[in-house]
Amino acid sequence: MATNDNNKFQAVIAHAKEYGFVFQSSEIYDGLSAVYDYGPWGSELKKNIRDYWWKSMTQLHENIVGIDAAIFMHPTTWKASGHVDNFSDPMIDNKDSKKRYRVDHLIEAHAETLPKEDAESLLASMDRLLSGDDFTGLKQLIEDNKIKCAISGTGNWTDIRQFNLMFKTEFGAVASENEGDNMVYLRPETAQGIFVNFLNVQKTARMKIPFGIAQTGKAFRNEIVARQFIFRMREFEQMEMQFFVRPGTEGEWYKYWKQERLQWHLSLGMPAEKYRYHDHVKLAHYAKEACDIEFEFPIGFKEVEGIHSRGDFDLSQHQLYSKKKLQYYDNDIDAATGKPYGNYVPYVVETSIGLDRMFLSVLSNAYEEEAIPKEDGSSDSRTVLRIPAKIAPVKLAILPLTKKDGLPEIARDIMRNCQDEFYCFYEEKDTIGKRYRRMDAIGTPFCITVDHQTKEDNTVTIRYRDTMTQERLPIDKVKELVKEKIR
Ligand code: GAP
Repeated sequence: MATNDNNKFQAVIAHAKEYGFVFQSSEIYDGLSAVYDYGPWGSELKKNIRDYWWKSMTQLHENIVGIDAAIFMHPTTWKASGHVDNFSDPMIDNKDSKKRYRVDHLIEAHAETLPKEDAESLLASMDRLLSGDDFTGLKQLIEDNKIKCAISGTGNWTDIRQFNLMFKTEFGAVASENEGDNMVYLRPETAQGIFVNFLNVQKTARMKIPFGIAQTGKAFRNEIVARQFIFRMREFEQMEMQFFVRPGTEGEWYKYWKQERLQWHLSLGMPAEKYRYHDHVKLAHYAKEACDIEFEFPIGFKEVEGIHSRGDFDLSQHQLYSKKKLQYYDNDIDAATGKPYGNYVPYVVETSIGLDRMFLSVLSNAYEEEAIPKEDGSSDSRTVLRIPAKIAPVKLAILPLTKKDGLPEIARDIMRNCQDEFYCFYEEKDTIGKRYRRMDAIGTPFCITVDHQTKEDNTVTIRYRDTMTQERLPIDKVKELVKEKIR
C-alpha cells in the first residue's frame, strides 16, 4: 500500500504507463517535457469522459449547442482577447552574455547540480514564488543560490520580465517579406473559437438568450512549471462552455453554473468530500467573478475546473478589433420600461474544465492497492481501478475458463452479441485468477466466465470488480444487466 500522497501519485503514474493509459510523448527519444500520449485504455477513458461531458452539456440542455472550431485562428483574435499582452510567464537576461533564460529553466538547471534534498527545496521555493508572481523574490532566490549564466559564467542579471505562454508557428508555405506577417498562434484556450462564432451559431441554430455554446478540443500553453504528469501539460484538452446571458442576470447564472458543474462531477460517482470551491481573489484579465472547483488529488487539493463570469469583455473586444457587431436583439419585454430589452452585447458565464486533469482525478481516485485476506490466514493483494462503470474503458470482459470443449465459441457468441452496445474484451490466456487481476488493473467493472456448466444450463458466472463477489446468470440476461449498470 502506498504510504504517503506523493508515493500514491508516483504509483498512479507508474500504473498509468504499465497498463496502457498514459505514455510519455516520444519516449524512445527520451520524451518531450509536459507532453503525453494516451494508450489503448487511456484513450477510451478520455473519450468516455469527453462524451459524458458533451452529452450532459448539449443533449441534456435544450439551450446549449456544440461547435468544433479550428485550433488556428486569426492572430488578431489573441490581441483582442488580451492573450498577447497578458498571458505571460517570467524571464531573465544575463547582462554580460545577453542570453535570455526562462526563470524556471535557469533554476531547474541549477537544481540538477545539487544533492536531491537541496534541489527539492530550491524547486519548492521556486514554485511558491512563481505561483505568487513574486519576481523580486525569484531574483533574490537566483542571487542567494549564486546561479550563474552558462555562457558568461557571471551572476549579473537583469530584473525579471514576463514571457508569453502562447506557442507561435508560421502559416502558409511562402515566407513573408515582413517578419511576423505569417505568424499564427496555437490557441491557448478553446473559448475564443466560441466567441468569434457567437453570431454564426446564434443565427443558424436560432438560439434565444440565455443560451450556451459548448466545445471540446486541444489547447496549447508553453507552461513554465510542468512537473506534475498530466496535471499541467503543454498540449492538453479543454471542455468549455460559454453561456450568453442578458446583462444584469450574470450573477444568478454564475451561481447556477457553479452548482451545476459540481453536481456533474458527483453524478459521475466521484466522492463529494474530495471537492471544494476556491473563490478567486486575484482575477484573470477577463474575469469579473471566478472560482475553481478543486479536487483532492494525491498531491493535494487542486483546480480541475474554472467557472468565470466574463462580462461582455470578449465579445466587446472582438467587436472593437473586428469592427463587426457582435450583438443580440432581445425582444423580451423589460418589466421596468414596458419595452423590449433591444440590442446589447451579451454577458458570458464560462465553465472550463481540463479533460486531462479530469482524467487524472478519475484515475487517482480510482486507484487502490487492496489487501485480500485468504482463508488460511495469509493475505494476497490486488491493484484495482474503481473507475465509475459508465466511463470505464472496458465494460465487460468475457473469459472462457479453458481454451477447449467449445467454451471459446460460446464466449465469442456472447462477445458478438454485446460489443455493439458497450466495449467488451475477450481473453482466454492464463489462469482465470490472473485474468481477473488484469481486468481489475484496467478498471473493468464486470467479468463473465464461461465454464462447463454453461454448456449444460446456459448460465455464466459474473464477477463484480469492486466486491469480487460472483453469481450465476443466464447468458441472455448479461447484456441487459451491464447496460443497466453503466447507464
Ligand atoms: N477559458 C478559460 C480558461 O482557459 P483556465 O483556468 O486557464 O481557464 C481552464 O483553464 C482549465 O483548463 C483548468 O481548470 C484546467 O483544468 C485546464 N488546464 C489549464 N491549463 C492546463 C495545463 N497546462 N494542462 C492541463 N490542463 C490545463
